[in-house]
Amino acid sequence: MPPRIITNAELETMVDTSDEWIVSRTGVHERHVADAMVFTSDLAIEAARNAIENASMSPEDIELIVVATLTADMHTPSVACIVQSALGFSKNTMAFDINAACSGFIYAITIANQFLQNGVYKTALVIGAETMSKVTDWEDRNTCVLFGDGAGAVVLKAAETEDGILLTSAGCDGIAGIKSLTIPGLKVSDEEAKKRENRNLCTIRMDGGEVFKYAVRMMSEQITTIIEKAGLKLEDVKLIIPHQANARILEAIAHRIQVDKSVIFFNVSHSGNTSAASVPLALQAAVQADRIHKDDYIILVGLGGGITWGAVLIKWA
Ligand SMILES: CC(C)(COP(=O)(O)OP(=O)(O)OC[C@H]1O[C@@H](n2cnc3c(N)ncnc32)[C@H](O)[C@@H]1OP(=O)(O)O)[C@@H](O)C(=O)NCCC(=O)NCCS
Repeated sequence: MPPRIITNAELETMVDTSDEWIVSRTGVHERHVADAMVFTSDLAIEAARNAIENASMSPEDIELIVVATLTADMHTPSVACIVQSALGFSKNTMAFDINAACSGFIYAITIANQFLQNGVYKTALVIGAETMSKVTDWEDRNTCVLFGDGAGAVVLKAAETEDGILLTSAGCDGIAGIKSLTIPGLKVSDEEAKKRENRNLCTIRMDGGEVFKYAVRMMSEQITTIIEKAGLKLEDVKLIIPHQANARILEAIAHRIQVDKSVIFFNVSHSGNTSAASVPLALQAAVQADRIHKDDYIILVGLGGGITWGAVLIKWA
């Protein structure tokens, strides 16, 4: 995450809000925000470098780069191509971005996993990276207290073992969800322009209550379905790492699927919602906190704009 921190106290000086409201409704105490000239690719490059180093590999070993983001620096080249250009990857590396909003990292893992399983590639770099601060309307208290910037990355390697990624699942409900979370791009419909009145049109607007209900329902469903498909039971799962949108969403998921809150990893307090970066940032924090060990079953699960959702079941190698 970039070094600059915006605390709730600082937000109190910017919009009509309070630390008490933000903490009680979201669990967020602070978020990291990139400087004006720092973009998603800058964060993605740093995360990529760290992941490759941690995997004791070098950029030439990577055959595929998938970046999940909804805040790419440019429409083209993709963030993945900018990463490819920065770290000495081979020219044979396939590199592209995907956008599934806050489910992006789950979708990206799912795609990369297919390339590894069908034998096309042996190693893939999957990055979730966002500068949400650049699409935030800092005068809209409904959204500006929620989001933050960051990037996380993993290296996936094909292996003939019984562990690693066991199952993935993903879905989308564009009919019900298409209007509940939006950031206009080239097209700004009258309806979207109206939501933003005379403000910056390319900023996030969200029906928070609607997304909240969706998040609890779909992430809970994804968790129980993937466990069932794998022939496992909830008690077999050591840790669930959900998209970090709001601590209350995570508490509601624990309640709905009836697990102790300790099985769900909470990381939102110091990061805010970093969209596609939130799951890899939380995964990294869980590894650092020694919450994941060899042979543990863990679940990554997300929900985001679209509405999109997905889950990944891993037996930690
Ligand atoms: C946004 C969210 C925190 C709002 O929490 P909530 O408990 O549903 O709050 P409500 O929307 O009912 O708003 C309650 C009141 O607080 C006000 N409010 C909103 N933001 C506020 C803020 N930052 N500070 C103070 N008051 C605020 C609202 O205007 C509303 O006032 P009103 O009743 O006078 O209209 C919550 O809906 C949420 O987290 N949704 C999911 C968001 C998300 O993370 N989405 C990303 C994709 S997963």
